[in-house]
Amino acid sequence: MASWTQLEKACKNCTKCPLHETRTNVVFGTGRTDAEIMLIGEGPGESEDLQGEPFVGKAGQLLDDMLKLIGLDRKLNVYIANIVKCRPPHNRDPLFSEQDACMDWLRNQYALVRPKVVICLGRIAASALIHPDFKITKEHGKWFVKDGVKFTAIYHPSALLRDESKRPETFVDLKNILQVVKTTCTNTYLPI
Ligand code: URA
Repeated sequence: MASWTQLEKACKNCTKCPLHETRTNVVFGTGRTDAEIMLIGEGPGESEDLQGEPFVGKAGQLLDDMLKLIGLDRKLNVYIANIVKCRPPHNRDPLFSEQDACMDWLRNQYALVRPKVVICLGRIAASALIHPDFKITKEHGKWFVKDGVKFTAIYHPSALLRDESKRPETFVDLKNILQVVKTTCTNTYLPI
């Protein structure tokens, strides 16, 4: 298995799909490399492409607030990555061919982090990681266990910015995630 340094370096030079032609930066991932929780988004937007970090735009600010609600912090106790590491033009959904070409990077990140809980942010990540016909409106907040790892999905923060009526359901999902994390992740909430 590649080390983090090798993996990040190789990913940043990736030309496996056409998205490399239009990117400013590869958005590899950020956070604790030994986190018990991984958050997976869809792909970089404009701010992320410019800064090379996931979730640094408006959706990222909301994500930080959502994490704070349940005692999580992007630097301290989670690892954040995306299904595709390069921005799709005009923020369109990443094509299946782009997701397939990119998936080995995430597979390697997942193997190195070895999370106990995976939180998919939105439909694209949930369809790629939980099951292909995932319906985010019906299945957000449900749990799926794969090889002993607990997977769930919540609405993407961009969807919550567009449609505030989805926020109460997400609040319920976050409170439920907090309970699951408390019982599953013994190193996440450390005494101060
Ligand atoms: N949306 C995503 O899915 N990922 C990011 O990194 C930013 C916005």
